[in-house]
Amino acid sequence: MEQNKRPETMERIRTPELAQAFISEQVEALRAQIGTKKVLLALSGGVDSSVVAALLIRAVGRQLVCVHVNHGLLRKGEPEQVIRVFREELGANLIYVDAVDRFLDKLAGVSDPETKRKIIGKEFIDVFAEEAAKLDGIQFLAQGTIYPDILESDGVKAHHNVGGLPPELDFELVEPVKFLYKDEVRVVGKELGLPDGMVYRQPFPGPGLGVRCVGAITRDRLEAVRESDAILREEFANAGLEGKVWQYFTIVPDFKSTGIKDNKRTYDWPVVLRAVNSVDATAASIEEIPYALLGKIVNRILTEVPGVNRVLYDLSPKPVATIEWE
Ligand code: XMP
Repeated sequence: MEQNKRPETMERIRTPELAQAFISEQVEALRAQIGTKKVLLALSGGVDSSVVAALLIRAVGRQLVCVHVNHGLLRKGEPEQVIRVFREELGANLIYVDAVDRFLDKLAGVSDPETKRKIIGKEFIDVFAEEAAKLDGIQFLAQGTIYPDILESDGVKAHHNVGGLPPELDFELVEPVKFLYKDEVRVVGKELGLPDGMVYRQPFPGPGLGVRCVGAITRDRLEAVRESDAILREEFANAGLEGKVWQYFTIVPDFKSTGIKDNKRTYDWPVVLRAVNSVDATAASIEEIPYALLGKIVNRILTEVPGVNRVLYDLSPKPVATIEWE
C-alpha cells in the first residue's frame, strides 16, 4: 500500500506555480512510463477524468484514446462540451459513443434505485470494454483516481457500484492525479487551460440524471429532469451562485398532481429543486435561495418544461435526508 500513500514531502498544490511544476513533472513521468504505446481513458467530462485527459494529451498527444460514453443520463450540453473542448480545442483522439437507446432500453421499467445503479454501472463497463476491443495496441488504462478515492474506498472511485475491471480491460494503470485532493485537481485543471465550467463544476453522480428521475425512468420524465436542471443552472449562473453553492439540481418524482393551464385541468409532474452546501457530502445544509430568484426559476420551469405543473423546494438537510432522492 506504500505506493498508494501520498508522499509526506508533497506540498499542497494551491498556486498556479505549484500546479505548473506538478504538470511538468507528470508530463515527464507519463512520457517515461508510456513511451510510444497507447493509452485508453473513459472520459466522462467530470473534473478528474478531464484533468487526466488534458495531462495525457500534453504528454503523449494522440497516443491517448479517449472514449466518451453518452448514456443518456448526462446534463444538457455535456456531451457537446466534451467534444468541443477535447476534440476541437485540444485535438484529442476522442471516440464518442451514443449509447442512449441501449441504456434507456435496459433501464425501462426498473424502479429499484440500487438495481438502476447496477444496470448503469455494468452497462457502462460493457460499452467501454466493447470499444476497447475494437482498438489495437492499447497497453495502458488511464483513470481519474484521486486521493480521497484511495483513502475511502481502496482506489475504486466512490459509488462505482461495480467490482474490479473485467479481464478485457486489464491494462497497466496510469493514474497521474492519484495523490491529489479535489481542490488541487481543480488548480491543475485551470493551469492546463480547461474551461471554468469543467474545472469548477459541482459534484455529479456516476448514474447521472438517472437517480433524479425517481423510480422507473421514462424518456419524457427524463427530459423534464434535464430541461429543469438546465434552467436551474442557468439562473444560478446569472445570479452569480455558480461555484458558490456546493450542489444544486432538480428531481422529478414519479407521481402527478392536478393543475390548470389555458382554462383546462392538467395532470402533470412536479419538479423538486434541491440546493445544498456541504464540505464532503457526509452532511449538507440548505442553501437559502433568494425569493426573487426562486420565483424566476419556478416561472421558467412552469412555462418552458413540458409535462410539469408544480415546483417544490426541498428544505431537508442531510441528515435526515440524503442529498440525492434515491
Ligand atoms: P447522498 O445522496 O448519499 O449523496 O447524500 C452524497 C454525494 O454522493 C453523490 N452520489 C453519487 N455519486 N454515484 C456517484 O458517483 C452514485 O451512485 C451516487 N449517489 C450519490 C451525490 O450527488 C452527493 O454529492
